[in-house]
Amino acid sequence: MLVLGIESSCDETAAALVADGRVVLSNVVASQIKTHRDFGGVVPELASREHLRNIGYVVRQAFTEARKSYRDIDGIAVTQGPGLIGSLLVGVSFAKAMAYSIKKPLVPVNHIEGHIYSAFLENPDIGYPILALVVSGGHTSLVYSPAPGKYQHVGRTRDDAAGEALDKIAKYLGLGYPGGPVIDRLSRKGDPDRYLFSIPKISDGSLDFSFSGFKTAALRHIQQEKIAPRRPGARPSRQIVDLVTSYQASIIRTLVIQTKKAQTRLQARSILLVGGVACNSELRKSFKRSFEEAENPVPVYYPSPVFTTDNGVMIAAAGTPKLHHPPPLDLELNAQADLRLC
Ligand code: KG4
Ligand code: ZN
Repeated sequence: MLVLGIESSCDETAAALVADGRVVLSNVVASQIKTHRDFGGVVPELASREHLRNIGYVVRQAFTEARKSYRDIDGIAVTQGPGLIGSLLVGVSFAKAMAYSIKKPLVPVNHIEGHIYSAFLENPDIGYPILALVVSGGHTSLVYSPAPGKYQHVGRTRDDAAGEALDKIAKYLGLGYPGGPVIDRLSRKGDPDRYLFSIPKISDGSLDFSFSGFKTAALRHIQQEKIAPRRPGARPSRQIVDLVTSYQASIIRTLVIQTKKAQTRLQARSILLVGGVACNSELRKSFKRSFEEAENPVPVYYPSPVFTTDNGVMIAAAGTPKLHHPPPLDLELNAQADLRLC
């Protein structure tokens, strides 16, 4: 089964052709990093316009690279939500028009489910039940899945997403956009214990996350120590390096604590670490240490970096099982900014 996956939920316009849910024939991503860099974050209106400019080319390129024609595909999978409404609308409208004109089935995919499928691309035999930490610029969620296609959303962020928390402090300190990869790199040389960040206690015993307290604490450290933002072109100061190292370490500690708590309750057979922030080297190491080297070891799976940040491959993969019994084409299908997984 050959599926075209289209993704446009945030700031990446992406399309991919995937055979049987895991053989990647093409993976095209038009990143908008340059467009949003000067603003230190994604500007929704600019994102929609960029998607409009890019989507035709990106989809055509996915077919060219795969050496396939429109006739060869069995269906289209498109991200329906959650995400930025203007961005989602571009992908959904394009997919509907294309499905109608080439007379192929179309299935909507939840972006979070797409991220979960990204872990299976290189590890098809992951054992269920799974516990997935979906951690990106827009999401920080714990999802329990007892069987393919069945989900329980057991924890979510109450304020910022982890990636957003990294990006915002990076912006404040003049480190550029997106901040996650920069902080990841700087943290290899910093002191994680120099600045104190206390881990918030979510007292109702829930598996939710909260990161806004870290941001406030970081701003307090910046004020108290009079830490100046990095000057353009200059190297970040020792204070900046240590501050972002301590900040990243506290975010990672929170992610590990809540995932461990969830695992103690749910006893999954596999742990998945997915979404853009799952590229983080220290987070990967911490998860390996905390779960694979624990008394009751549980394997941890994460995708290669190209499949970790937003892409069309994961959307095609998640859509493939749904296309085994394709629904009739629904031209009423709409983007949903706050689409729930279950
Ligand atoms: O999954 P993604 O491409 O888009 C969303 O669905 O949000 O994730 C983007 C996020 C950004 O916040 C970016 O800073 C973060 O992933 N990110 C990282 C790393 N690479 C990307 N965060 C920490 N360490 C990294 N190496
Ligand atoms: Zn994403």
